[in-house]
Amino acid sequence: MERLQKVIANYGYTSRRKAEDLIKRQKVMVNGQIITELGTKVSARDVISIDGVIINKDVKHEYYILNKPRNVISSTTDKAGRITVVDLIDTDARIYPIGRLDYDTTGLILLTNDGDFANTLMHPSFEIEKTYIAKLDKVLGKEDILAIKKGIIVDGRKVEVRKFKVKRRDLEKNTEIVEITIIEGRNHIIKKLFRELGVDVVKLSRIAYGFLNVVDLKSGEYRNLTIKEIKKLYALAKE
Ligand code: URA
Repeated sequence: MERLQKVIANYGYTSRRKAEDLIKRQKVMVNGQIITELGTKVSARDVISIDGVIINKDVKHEYYILNKPRNVISSTTDKAGRITVVDLIDTDARIYPIGRLDYDTTGLILLTNDGDFANTLMHPSFEIEKTYIAKLDKVLGKEDILAIKKGIIVDGRKVEVRKFKVKRRDLEKNTEIVEITIIEGRNHIIKKLFRELGVDVVKLSRIAYGFLNVVDLKSGEYRNLTIKEIKKLYALAKE
């Protein structure tokens, strides 16, 4: 038995918070009865409907890896009408991105309609390595690099940097390209980290997420994750 809002979120219908809203607004029925109690527990046999539409029948879970282009927003809808990562994927399933990349960040992002999978990967305890290539508007000094490796404090918390290397340095233009691997998923974290050093990130791309990468996917291309990859991600979460 699990809490109704969690089950709704796990079916990929919406987030847990929005599911709570729907329950409060009396939009949710279990076995034909309107439910208003947030803590209501349901089992796999209960039939859940929202606005009269049954949500927990034959829901097939889908898992995608996308090479996100620049100027695409990491959400399911956008009030300003901008293209979302979901628009790029040809499916009728209610998929959503697992975590976020900024509007101007490119690279690897996962999407699914499996709430359990998404919650597992987004949980702060899931310390999978994420590697980014960043173009900086300044050349870093030796002390800056030491500070990055030691761990810079951003918003009161140290950013653990697993790997860091300068890939290319242009002394004439005073710019450089670095590769940085971190294990957390706070929003804008890479940009904020460099900002602490007075450096702006002018281009950012996520090239790897644990053992996954997008070298075989052109910008805007995607593919399904394999069963093996999904199992491997779950296994990493249990470590
Ligand atoms: N860090 C950022 O600053 N932006 C991203 O899109 C991802 C990580």
